Amino acid sequence: MLDDVRRLSRRTRRERNRRRDRYLSLNGVNLKTSESPWSVLRTSSVESLSQKELKNPTNGRRDMGNKTTSNANQSSSKPKDHLYKILVIGDLGTGKTSIIKRYVHRFFTQHYRATIGVDFALKVLHWDENTLIRLQLWDIAGQERYGNMTRVYYKEAVGAFIVFDVTRRNTFESVTNWKSDLDSKVQLPNGAPIPCVLLANKCDQQEEGIITNPGKMDDYCAENGFTAWFETSARDNINIDEAAKSLVEKILEFDNVINNDVRKGDQFSLTKDSTQANGRKFCSC
Ligand code: GTP
Ligand code: MG
Repeated sequence: MLDDVRRLSRRTRRERNRRRDRYLSLNGVNLKTSESPWSVLRTSSVESLSQKELKNPTNGRRDMGNKTTSNANQSSSKPKDHLYKILVIGDLGTGKTSIIKRYVHRFFTQHYRATIGVDFALKVLHWDENTLIRLQLWDIAGQERYGNMTRVYYKEAVGAFIVFDVTRRNTFESVTNWKSDLDSKVQLPNGAPIPCVLLANKCDQQEEGIITNPGKMDDYCAENGFTAWFETSARDNINIDEAAKSLVEKILEFDNVINNDVRKGDQFSLTKDSTQANGRKFCSC
């Protein structure tokens, strides 16, 4: 019996090490250059990406840090093509992977398999007739909990979701830590915090804690610099698309401001008023 347990635990450890090695080697590719997440994306199941896009991943690439390309795109009549890196963070088991799977692959499973390190997915949005948006979603393991690796993962992100589980009060208590970890490790090119939306996930279950009081949630979000909050359910597909839309709108807003100011030759700076305006746009269901 004891031998069986030992053998099983050795096998689990081996499996864990193998997965970690795989993850490190993926990151080795990824972390060497900020342009390379595409090579990692090729290894993940990205159903909405066409073969042509895979062969030519940087074609028309544009992100908030890439002012020259953005400028060039704005002055031409070609459709605008944006690539935005979005982080999905929060405690273990809050539903980050499930939210991404629901959003990208339209799929949900009750089966829980903890993410190790980081995973990736790509969502292509035909925003309007002139705008194509590629969201590069970085699904960061809850067990990374404000650790040393998060600084590397957060690099060049332009938006984030922080997820908590409405059935577990302690996962909400960690939200403030996740937010301050995020704000201390990544900023927009102008130094402002990146837009961040708070997701109260598993709203198909019995809720507990602050989430039962939407007014308090509004206050919490205003005080802590969230651009919006949503009750979501990856299981029942509640508010996932809406939350993503709200984050993308905010990112586009920042992107336009930055690019307009770059075009004018001004140094972009976020005024106090606009920071407050960000905090006012809340959304709940
Ligand atoms: P880590 O990778 O460990 O950080 O966890 P995670 O945040 O990625 O959580 P994951 O998506 O793996 O979900 C954890 C468990 O919660 C799984 O059993 C999911 O099926 C379940 N779950 C996720 N979202 C929902 C939801 O909206 N409703 C319900 N009822 N269960 C959910
Ligand atoms: Mg996960």
